Amino acid sequence: MDLIIAKDYSDLSRRASRIIASEIKKKPDLVLGLATGSTPLGTYQELVRLYREEGLDFSRVVTFNLDEYYGISMDNPQSYHYYMFENFFKHVNIKPENIHIPDGMAGDVEAHCKKYDEEIAKYGGIDLQLLGIGQNGHIGFNEPGDELLTATHLTNLTQNTIEANSRFFKSMDEVPKQAITMGLGTIIQAKKIVLLASGKNKAEIMAELLDENAVSTKNPASFLLLHKDVTVIIDEEAAMLY
Ligand code: GLP
Repeated sequence: MDLIIAKDYSDLSRRASRIIASEIKKKPDLVLGLATGSTPLGTYQELVRLYREEGLDFSRVVTFNLDEYYGISMDNPQSYHYYMFENFFKHVNIKPENIHIPDGMAGDVEAHCKKYDEEIAKYGGIDLQLLGIGQNGHIGFNEPGDELLTATHLTNLTQNTIEANSRFFKSMDEVPKQAITMGLGTIIQAKKIVLLASGKNKAEIMAELLDENAVSTKNPASFLLLHKDVTVIIDEEAAMLY
């Protein structure tokens, strides 16, 4: 694991966007795995800036998002679809047909998840996966528990995640209780992984991840220790207990 301690959130965002930009320059048809949440917002802003000011070309880039709330339609402002278009896709020259996000309204969820993994495989797997991390160590929506699943699947959110994500909703009752997420197997098969963590509320989980040398289903992010090309970028606040 390569660890970069960034000065602050802007520095973290700049560094993450530079890694993504350099991979796109090396491979213009990069298969890019994307994350949502507050943490990657600055990275998306930087990528939009690189597109506008330096002509970073997304026309051949293919994206697969990690997850989507279940029971929420694409046009719902709380959906990850909406988030991705508002914060990133509509500002760059990515082709709509190259964008993949799980469908939160999928009728046959099992078939939908299977197709999602098949689609990733069709493109030869993910080249670069961008990740955030939940306060409980979840990545995508792979929550801590007795077992972790490898493939894309429907999952129940933990109370901790529902509470953490309630800040984006009017009330706790409105937070979806389920989500579709890529599994740990799909994530870990990405050729390169960049994990971002910012702020004091991530300090504890980052210390746990960076200090311990053990893999446990109680901390899904710990599986990244098994991967040979992971860059962790954290700001000083997230690093304060490390
Ligand atoms: C959500 C997303 C994760 C994200 C996590 C942390 O639950 N499913 O992909 O990493 O939240 O979010 P934030 O960056 O807002 O702390």
